[in-house]
Amino acid sequence: MKTLKLRRFDDLHVHFRGLKSKTPAYYEDNLMEQVAPFTMNYCGRATIMPNPKPRHILCVKDVKRYKSHIEMVRNSVSPQPSFDPIMTIEISDSTTLKIIEEAHSFGVIAGKIYPTGIYGKGLSDFFSYKSWQKFGKMNDLGMIVLIHGELDLPGVLVTNREKIFLENVFIPFLSRYSRSFPNLRIVLEHVSSVSGVETVKCFGKNVAATITAHHLCTTLNNVVGKGTQPHNMCNPIPKDYHDMYCLQETAMSGNPKFFLGSDSAPHIRKNKECAHGACGAFTAPILPQLLAEIFENAGKLDKLEDFTSRFGAEFYGLPLNEGKIKLVKKDWIIPEQYGDVVPFMAGQKLQWQLLLE
Ligand code: NCD
Ligand code: ZN
Ligand code: ZN
Repeated sequence: MKTLKLRRFDDLHVHFRGLKSKTPAYYEDNLMEQVAPFTMNYCGRATIMPNPKPRHILCVKDVKRYKSHIEMVRNSVSPQPSFDPIMTIEISDSTTLKIIEEAHSFGVIAGKIYPTGIYGKGLSDFFSYKSWQKFGKMNDLGMIVLIHGELDLPGVLVTNREKIFLENVFIPFLSRYSRSFPNLRIVLEHVSSVSGVETVKCFGKNVAATITAHHLCTTLNNVVGKGTQPHNMCNPIPKDYHDMYCLQETAMSGNPKFFLGSDSAPHIRKNKECAHGACGAFTAPILPQLLAEIFENAGKLDKLEDFTSRFGAEFYGLPLNEGKIKLVKKDWIIPEQYGDVVPFMAGQKLQWQLLLE
């Protein structure tokens, strides 16, 4: 049987959600015990997004609590995986320089920005004096800025949100600030379009992008082309065929500016299958298997490990993971549901299986 051994992954963008709590109001986000072990089984590290409910990760106190929850879940997995979370805080209008310093002293190496309007408050102005000070502080501390690269403006279609962000914020920001902040590393998260890829390529080695597995294999047709498919609905919305092919080519090109960030974003079934369904594709249970299939179909299996386990670590300045994972080529059907969550590609066939030793 054909097997594939790969260095343990770094998933540099994943949502672990919150711990099971007794407050039913927050039940929808209490998924960590259900979802995080999937990632822990094949990743040496993962960058944990700071948006659990009801409270985002906004200061060092939040980080400490959230990290201990993650470690508790990891320690309950048997055999205990060799996994360390890379903690983040959200950088918004209310973040102070002191908050950034304290978080950094605790080991937070990345700050996440949601531009205002995408998910509520976020950061309203990248160019204000206050924001400029925050970027300066992160630059001085050698931190990484992770950006959800979309703008939600009146009159702009959802398919153009990434492009509008690039034109109005990202390109002017990089053009203006790269000289002031030479150490600042910036990641355009879950890049989803030709424009996004081309933009990231145009700037220096401090500018990179994460690519998800689902954007490598979906277009808008997979979301609304045959009825609505809520489990494929995610931000940024999957786009045209030329965007998908461009992302495939880029992920498999060996360009170290592009690396894995799965953006596995679980939501409970009833919050996906309803009016105003939540956005996010839950890919954690199938990530190595799906990526192996996509890369193999393109004849680029030799490029997979750099994408999943090298380029991201190098960009973050971290040593490569030591352990390995093993995949075997054997068809299987993805379950319809894992706990309360429907996975991406539920009920469909994949060719590779992950062997847990
Ligand atoms: C993410 C989530 O559900 O937290 N959703 C998504 O569609 N990607 C948020 C995000 O990464 O933008
Ligand atoms: Zn995002
Ligand atoms: Zn995300």
